[in-house]
Amino acid sequence: METKIDERVFSKPWFHSVNEEERRWLRQLLEADAKDRRNYFDAMPKVDFRPPATQEERNLVCGAWAYRGRGELTGICGASAYAIAHFPLELPILTFLYDHMTDESHHAVEMIEWASRYNPGKEYWRADLDWEGRWGNGQLRSLPLKEGQNWMDYLLFILPIETGAGLGIRPYDLLKIQLRELAQFTEARVHSDEAKHFMFFMLSARRLLQQGA
Ligand SMILES: [Fe+2]
Ligand SMILES: [Fe+2]
Repeated sequence: METKIDERVFSKPWFHSVNEEERRWLRQLLEADAKDRRNYFDAMPKVDFRPPATQEERNLVCGAWAYRGRGELTGICGASAYAIAHFPLELPILTFLYDHMTDESHHAVEMIEWASRYNPGKEYWRADLDWEGRWGNGQLRSLPLKEGQNWMDYLLFILPIETGAGLGIRPYDLLKIQLRELAQFTEARVHSDEAKHFMFFMLSARRLLQQGA
C-alpha cells in the first residue's frame, strides 16, 4: 500500500507555480501521509473481497457506496460550485476547482453505477431516505457554506473531507465485504486524485497563512 512520491504528482497545471521550497514541503507532506496510510491499513481488519451474498448485504454495501457517490457530486462538487460563484478567487485557484469538479463527478459516477450493477432495481441516482434521511433532511443538496464566508472558510470545510474520505480511508471496509471493482477504482484512481487535491488545498492554506504572518 505505497504512495509513490514522484514528479507525476506535480503534473497537474495547478502546481506549475510551485517553487523549490514549496515542492520540498509538499513531498514531506505526502511522505507523512503515506506513512499514516500504511499504519491505517495495517490496523484495519482484513476485508473479504466478494460480492454481497444476501439482499441485506447488498442493500448495505451498495447503499453506502451510492450514498458516498451522491455526496461527492452534491457535497464536494456543490461546494466547489459555491466557491466559484461566491468568492473572489485567483485564476489559478479556479483552474483547480474546475478540475476538482471533473475528478469528483467521475468518482460519483463509478460509485453509483457499480452499486446499481450489484443491486439491480435500486435507483441510486436519487436521494435515499435510509441514507440522506438518516443524517440529513432527505434532500440531495447540502452546502454547509454561508454567505459572507471566504476561501479560508472553504479550505477549513474541505480539508477534513479530502484527508479523511479521500486519502487514508477506503470507505466501508468495516462492513467486512467489499465490491472488488470499487476497491480497485479507489486504489487506482481515487487515491491518486485525492492526493493531488489534498496537496493543492494544503498548499493554498499554507500560502494564506504565510500571507497573514
Ligand atoms: Fe472523491
Ligand atoms: Fe478531492
